[in-house]
Parts: sequence; structure tokens; C-alpha cells
Amino acid sequence: MKNFDRNDFLDMVVYQIYPRSFCDGNGDGIGDIKGIISKLDYLKDLGVNAVWLSPCYKSPKYDNGYDVSDYRDIDPDYGTLDDMKRLISELHKRGIKLITDFVANHTSSEHKWFKEAKKSKDNPYHDYYIWEKTPPTKWTCCFGGSAWEYNEETGEYYLHSFAVQQPDLNWKNPKVREEMRSVVDFWLDLGVDGFRCDVLDYIGKNYATDHMHGDPSMHAYINELFGRDKLSRIFTVGECQSDEKDIREICGEDRGELTTVFQFEHFGVGRKDRWIKYPFAFDDVKNILSKWQYFSAKNGLLYTLFTDNHDQPYFISRTGNDREYRYECATMYAAMFYLLKGIPFIYQGQEFGSASPEYPSIDYYDDIETRNYYAYQEKAKEYPRYEVMNQVRFGSRDNSRHPVAWSEDEKTGYGFGSEKTWLPLNSRAKEINLERDKKSEKSVIGFYKKLLAYRKSSEVIRRGDFKELSADGEGNKGCFVFERSLGEKKVVVAVNFDREQTIELPVNEEEYKFIMSNNPAYKPFNKQFSAFDVAVYEKTK
Ligand code: NOJ
Repeated sequence: MKNFDRNDFLDMVVYQIYPRSFCDGNGDGIGDIKGIISKLDYLKDLGVNAVWLSPCYKSPKYDNGYDVSDYRDIDPDYGTLDDMKRLISELHKRGIKLITDFVANHTSSEHKWFKEAKKSKDNPYHDYYIWEKTPPTKWTCCFGGSAWEYNEETGEYYLHSFAVQQPDLNWKNPKVREEMRSVVDFWLDLGVDGFRCDVLDYIGKNYATDHMHGDPSMHAYINELFGRDKLSRIFTVGECQSDEKDIREICGEDRGELTTVFQFEHFGVGRKDRWIKYPFAFDDVKNILSKWQYFSAKNGLLYTLFTDNHDQPYFISRTGNDREYRYECATMYAAMFYLLKGIPFIYQGQEFGSASPEYPSIDYYDDIETRNYYAYQEKAKEYPRYEVMNQVRFGSRDNSRHPVAWSEDEKTGYGFGSEKTWLPLNSRAKEINLERDKKSEKSVIGFYKKLLAYRKSSEVIRRGDFKELSADGEGNKGCFVFERSLGEKKVVVAVNFDREQTIELPVNEEEYKFIMSNNPAYKPFNKQFSAFDVAVYEKTK
């Protein structure tokens, strides 16, 4: 058996599936496991070798499955446990790993533990949650309002960092830690290959701080979960709002905590908070990426490369031009992120240039965070209603949660599998769907496939060092030029931003060969770059 090398995780290309919106296999308007299985050949062909599956566990779905009522069963909306076993085996047949979502900070208020816990102070489950006679902090929950909710039966308040229906577990209680370890083991026994750990840094809390996450006590808890010998080869990625120190500690190879974390700094570009747009320059994204590339190299971190997930509008809609330059922005960002050192994560639909819809009113939105914000603004009236709708259209998590448009066939909900869907189809589905994209001269998926195939073929891209070549000098603004190198082998990547310009590249026809561009009109070894052009060169001598 080959010795375990953590760097092998750099060969992964992960695709995130948000099950409710991915593909409907039984025509009830909700995506399901059967639908997922029908798309596995597509994923394989795209170049994916791991899937991160957002929660499919039993849930009342106040937060679409991030409120789990049974960690060991599948919600009937998605299928059965047997369907899940089949999914795992079908994935494995194709050489694709399954990274399942693990929601450790909170359960659903309908979980049997909480139903018991709230009955009385001496209930054996009472201590599974966090109770106080009076709220000891002014914490507000992430979806708005106080993080403390009164429970009449015990005359106490319980903590919920997210919705009222998502009570936080008490990780100080050894019984909770034991329960969660056994949940991890249950899924490992079923054959999953890893975990994406939802808001994992929230499991450590300190009342003396103004936020509900990040207390160093989390390290021991995470180590208890994942630092066990038999887990040393599984892949774990934490959703943690970590700073550099935390990241070093959580991901240190000797720590027995996580393989890696998502680093979200670039998500803050172009906005003040979730709802408010803010001016930005593409150079801001570049500078953040460059900084984390160097940090990762210095600290032996396996960096995660991503622009999208189910909690954000598509990146090209927030920080690009998803109208005139949709193809160009989608492909530019793909090259900019996925040719760096790290583990690529692709969110469903991103690979064919999906973008935010244009829904006319709040009735088209389902997301608890969006609806709470809208309801809050109806009362607070900080902005006129039309402005709040603009903010929702800009920032809502539903922007990336509409059912995936696989085909041009309106009758099947653009190939999703049903005409009536749990969340309206993207209002732009006629213009943006996979089938149409494939036929287009400028095909986003065509570029993604080429890019991922190149990544797979190039050890320099997967393992090589990073060096920024566009760092200094006025002339190097508005573009991101970097070199990847492994021994003598070198690849130069040039990413131009939103204006035409001349870019001096350290490549010449004698020593380099041109590998690819997203612009069919780009002339290799030419310094002229159009807006959003990408060019990749490989050293031959
Ligand atoms: C992060 C998840 O990505 C998000 O969708 C969810 O609402 C919160 N954690 C709470 O679980």
C-alpha cells in the first residue's frame, strides 16, 4: 500500500452539490439522491474526483438541512439510507470520493435530544444544550435577532447561533462529544471519505467575547473528533472564520484536527456586508489570493480554491460582469483560482457560467436569512423597500440555490426534472443552461473541462510552488501574472482584468509553448490582452 502523503489531497477536484436544487429524480419539484446518481457520469467527465454533499439528513429544513433532526437517516425528500449507500457505491465505482456535510455546532429543535432537553432541567438530555437563567451576552444570531431564546418549560434561555430552530450543542459536555464521534463513525462505516464541517469554530465559545465562535477550546474538541488514528487518512475541511494563527493550529499536520479550512477573505470583496455593494478592484481579489498562497507555502497548508458555494450569490454576479462578459468572467476566475496551488472546489452550475436571477419580489425567496432580513427592514425601514429588494437581489443566498438548469427544455424545468420547483427556476434559465452553454462558441464548460484536464496532467500545477510576477510596479496593475514551478519545470499564467492592456510576460517562443487561453482570438506570445483574457504557457527548455 502506498504511504500516505497529505499532499495527495492536492490531486482532488471537489464539486459541491446542494441536493435540493441539483437534480430531481422523481418529479416532485425537489432535488434528490436519485437525481444526483443520474449526473455522476457528467461529473466524472467534467474532471471531478470528489463530491461535497450538503446535508441530506432528516430535517424540518428551516435552514434547508443545516438543522438536522436525525444524523443517521436521510430525509424522505432526498430518498432513503439505501439510496445513500447506492450513491456512495456509484461514486466509488467512478473513482469519486464522498465528502459529507457534518453539522456539529447545532441540531434541529426537532432533534429528539432537544425535544427531551427542553422538558426539564433534570432531563438526561438537558445538558446537551446551552442554557442560562438570563442571557449572559448580547450576542445576535447570524440570521438576525437575539441568539438567546426563552423556554417556558424550564424558565431558561437556550443559545442558538443561527435560527431559533437550531439550538447550539454544549460541547463542554463529554456526552455530546461522544455522540458526535459516533455520528462520524457511523458515516465512515457507510463508506464516506471525509467531512465538510459546518461552522466548526462555533463549537468553542467564550461569553467574554462579542462573537459566538473561535474560542481555543475548540481545538481539543476537534482533536477528539478527528485526531484518532483510524481517521488519519480521511479528508476534513472546516468552515471556520479563522485568522492566520487559528488556521496554523487547526491545520497543522501534527495537530490531529483538520486537513484544511475554507479561507473566506476574498468573499468580502465588493460588499460591505451581505446586502450592500461596495466598490472593489480585481486587484483586491488578486492580492488576497497571492497573500494566502505565500502563507500556505510557508505554513504547509493545503489551501482551498473556491469562488462559490450555497451561501453566496455566484461570484461572477457579485464581482464581475455577468451580462456582456459572463463567459469571460467565469473563465477568467476559473483560471485565476484553479491554476493556483490548492484544492479546487466547484459549486454546482458554476461550471457553465450560472449567474444570479432577477426575481421581482420577496415572494420568490425562501432562504431564512433573506426573509428575516426583509421582515426586519419592513419594520426598521432603514432603506426604502425598492432598495431592500435591490439588496436582496444582490446578496441573497437563494441567488445560487435555484434549481440547476441542465437543458433548454422548459417543460422539465430546464432539465431539473419538474416544472414546479421548490424554489423558482432561475429567471435567466433560458439564457443560462448547460445545453445551451455546450453549444455556444464561447462555452464555459468547454473551458472548465480543458482547464481541469490540464490541471490533472500537470504536476507543476498540482504540486508546484507559486510566485507572483505581477506584484511590483504600476504597469502590473489590472492583471495577475504568476509562475508555478517544480524543479526546472515552469508554467506561467497571465490573467488580465477588466481593461485591454499590454502585459509584458517572461515567455518567449524558443523556451515556452502556449497551452491555452479563454479567448479564441488571443494571439500567443503577443502582449496585447483584451478584457478578461487568460493565457497559459509552459516552459519546454
Ligand atoms: C453554514 C452553512 O453553510 C449555512 O448554509 C448554514 O445556514 C449555517 N452554516 C448554519 O448551519
